[in-house]
Amino acid sequence: MSNYHIKHLEEYFQVYRKSVSNPEAFWEEIAEEHFVWRKKWNKVLEWDFTKPEIKWFEGAKLNITENCLDRHLPTRGDKTAILFEPNDPKEEAQHITYHELHERVCRMANVLLDHGVKKGDRVCIYLPMIPELAVSLLACARIGAIHSVVFAGFSANALSTRINDSDCKMVICSDGSYRGAKTIDLKGIVDKALEDCSGVENVLVVKRINSDIGMKDGRDHWLQPLLDKAYADRDAELMDAEDPLFILYTSGSTGKPKGMVHTTAGYMVYTAYTFKNAFQYTENDVYWCTADIGWITGHSYIVYGPLANGATTVMFEGVPSYPDYGRFWQIIEKHKINQFYTAPTAIRALAKEKLDFVEQHDLTSLKVLGSVGEPINEEAWHWYNNNIGKKKSPIIDTWWQTETGGMMITPIPYVTPTTPTYATLPFIGIQPALMDEAGKEIKGNQVDGRLCIKFPWPSIARTIWGNHDRYRDTYFSAYKNMYFTGDGALRDAVGYYRITGRVDDVIIVSGHNLGTAPIEDSINEHPAVAESAIVGFPHEVKGNALYGYVILKEVGKTRDRNNLRKEINQQITEQIGPIAKLDKIQFVSGLPKTRSGKIMRRILRKIASKDTSNLGDTSTLLNPEVVKEIMDNSF
Ligand code: WTA
Repeated sequence: MSNYHIKHLEEYFQVYRKSVSNPEAFWEEIAEEHFVWRKKWNKVLEWDFTKPEIKWFEGAKLNITENCLDRHLPTRGDKTAILFEPNDPKEEAQHITYHELHERVCRMANVLLDHGVKKGDRVCIYLPMIPELAVSLLACARIGAIHSVVFAGFSANALSTRINDSDCKMVICSDGSYRGAKTIDLKGIVDKALEDCSGVENVLVVKRINSDIGMKDGRDHWLQPLLDKAYADRDAELMDAEDPLFILYTSGSTGKPKGMVHTTAGYMVYTAYTFKNAFQYTENDVYWCTADIGWITGHSYIVYGPLANGATTVMFEGVPSYPDYGRFWQIIEKHKINQFYTAPTAIRALAKEKLDFVEQHDLTSLKVLGSVGEPINEEAWHWYNNNIGKKKSPIIDTWWQTETGGMMITPIPYVTPTTPTYATLPFIGIQPALMDEAGKEIKGNQVDGRLCIKFPWPSIARTIWGNHDRYRDTYFSAYKNMYFTGDGALRDAVGYYRITGRVDDVIIVSGHNLGTAPIEDSINEHPAVAESAIVGFPHEVKGNALYGYVILKEVGKTRDRNNLRKEINQQITEQIGPIAKLDKIQFVSGLPKTRSGKIMRRILRKIASKDTSNLGDTSTLLNPEVVKEIMDNSF
């Protein structure tokens, strides 16, 4: 029996049991049968969660691009690998075959080498959703450079922090980007960021919007002429299984963003295997994930997972609302999409619009619908199920994280019966545990607790770039011998998991993880601000929105409050990005604090959510009187 493609529930249980009773034998078989290796491993798994150190397929030699490209050429060379749908529906879609993609990746790899990028060097990629973005990732992987993609909605300040943290020597960007009816000056943002990045030697610039931009002599180069001159073949660099493939930053509850490091072989095996099963992908399907490649979902399930399976993967440059709210549904009809993977925030936003936008389009090609990034609420689940899936396409509610590299808890469509708001069962090889606050595992069903994973899986992040101690402290110190996810979950009577949300100070806004600390730091830099605290509150489209409590300095007290609000949001936009803007800003005289000086966010969260019936015991606070003031003046 091949364990690679699971088709029945009994088979799922059987394969699951095998994967947890002898993980090494299980993953060895999957790796052996479904991937190409230049040299096999010496050992399948070595791990120690206390250090923590995790190694999969140690001693193996491979290149992920040979698995994503070269090996498909004899059988799928003329099949579309990437189907590019531009922002403007009037611009023609591009069907890039495996042959063409291979050639483009090789040319790009040669350009990188010509510009001094070597194996192990870090390359920052700051591009919109255009084919060059996927090509850049793969070109880095081809030569063993480590890519660090920064979402092209981040500000100059966020970009420079990330470039410097991992010491990138090159940036790949474009002149600008299209976003619906707007254009964004990406090169201007890069120029500003690079004022603070002395390590960047070269900037390669893709021409996308034909804007008039400045090019710095000796540093900035238009990419296309270099590609035209480059040789169209390039041998893949021989990589070790545990060589880093990429760094991707994610917000922590405190401090600067964490550069999660993913390595080569385990990441490849796990993303490919989950892709095949979670989407039940079959050879001629057209698969579309609407995420941006700036996030982990795009890395794993637009680029690596699909291409490792020889799939056709759609890249969409635009937004769901342009030219109208039917854009997603129009694309599904146009390209006869079979698997569609999106985020609850997009579903909620589109569900608010007239059903006409959906009904104008033929969606009968759909076979599987996916959701990722935050809990999907019941109402959104039913809207998606009724109107998009027409009750025929199963919805997979996939729970996972930047740190996990691939899906962890998800139904397998047509295999696992689904229940709204439940991510259901652990994927093959995943051993979840619910823990109580005292550090004990909660066994049995109909329980809830903090979600941990007991045993390593192939695509777990191996470290935080440059800060292994932080990696250990964040994920492996809360519970002994466990990976702690930061999420809470419940397990129902049949053993299905439902993710209940973050238990730390990370807030998920429209599917983006935002740490409270960096936003508060940014607010506090405003000359009129003394101190601030932000919390999340429920929002019907974004899932959560941000509520800021701000204490003003004397100089601020005479200022116009609405102007101050605008300035604070402007500052956040410049330093982090527009996604971190606050929906509500309340000026307060103090913040509720414990006697040790810690802000009681629980109380602020309740007030922001208008859930003040049970604030708990506030008498132990340093300043209980401030709670009433905050409540009386809240929005
Ligand atoms: C949340 C995205 C509920 C969760 C792949 C997690 C979810 C964080 C789900 C990771 C889901 C993701 N149901 N919550 N299906 N998927 N989350 O790193 O809190 O951007 O810890 O990875 O999103 O977000 P990240």
